[in-house]
Amino acid sequence: MADKAKVAIFISGRGSNMAALLYASLLPDSAYEVCLVAANDPDAEGLMLASAEGVPTFALSHRGMTRADHDAVMEKAAKEAGAQYIVLAGYMRILSPEFVCRWQGRMLNIHPSLLPKYPGLDTHARAIEAGDSHGGVSVHLVTEELDAGEVLGSLSVAIRAGETADSLAERVRFAEHQLYPRVLSDYVSRGSDPHYLLGKVRALALSLPEAHERESHGSPGWRAGSEKSGKYFAYFNDQHHGSEHIALLVKTGSMDELLDLVEAQPHAYFKPAYYGASGWIGVILNRPGIDWDHVAEWLERSWRSVAPARLAKLINAAEDF
Ligand code: GRF
Repeated sequence: MADKAKVAIFISGRGSNMAALLYASLLPDSAYEVCLVAANDPDAEGLMLASAEGVPTFALSHRGMTRADHDAVMEKAAKEAGAQYIVLAGYMRILSPEFVCRWQGRMLNIHPSLLPKYPGLDTHARAIEAGDSHGGVSVHLVTEELDAGEVLGSLSVAIRAGETADSLAERVRFAEHQLYPRVLSDYVSRGSDPHYLLGKVRALALSLPEAHERESHGSPGWRAGSEKSGKYFAYFNDQHHGSEHIALLVKTGSMDELLDLVEAQPHAYFKPAYYGASGWIGVILNRPGIDWDHVAEWLERSWRSVAPARLAKLINAAEDF
């Protein structure tokens, strides 16, 4: 298994989600490990549990500090512990925009409602009051707007007759403890998950004009032009011919360009078996820091090189517009 992702968990209170995340991380197939539990309240109950389990802890009260200063100290502690992700679990602080921005795509939160329903507080009472059949819990990416980032997973919890906000909260908590570790583990490993990577490439490839998908020698491929006479501009390779890479194959301009790129950036490119001989380059997708805009540029360039002239004109016209 690849190195486990290091996560810092921020809490403010009891820390039952932190405990669920921590124990799940001790299972052999977990994709993450907890490198720090940090709190804005030195008396937070969860801190004692974490240190009893041998996990480093950090606490600093936010009282008397500006939001940005307090965030910066918490962030420093997370970084010093080697955190690659920050996971909020009942962390009762609104974070400064600068901090959120620095961790964009690497900070998750759990919220006790089926988002986008009921952001903010009193979620259970609001769901009961509205006569909803279900409450629930969502795990989402943290963005500047409160509880509004991409939802990565959710679980519904039935609302029974006579339900109170407390009784519902108690049951939702069971769901939270199941959901959070699973979503976190999937999220940190999706950069090496062929299904996720294929989904990303497919969406980008099919967004080009008159692109369609057709399998080629067992691999997904995308063609430009009509179903009848279209030409391939991209293939998806999942560890083909003994390669360890999950890759996108696209057309380069020349063999020189291909070889130069492979030599200069071997972490990003390789010369694939068979296809390499005719100028197709492998763009490695299962690597840290993959830039999807760059992948999209390669797809468009490769699409242009095979698209019928009338289609290429269309995209040029759209760009000039
Ligand atoms: C949970 O209900 C979670 O959904 C919300 O805060 C609560 C934290 O509880 N964000 P705990 O500290 O994990 O027990």
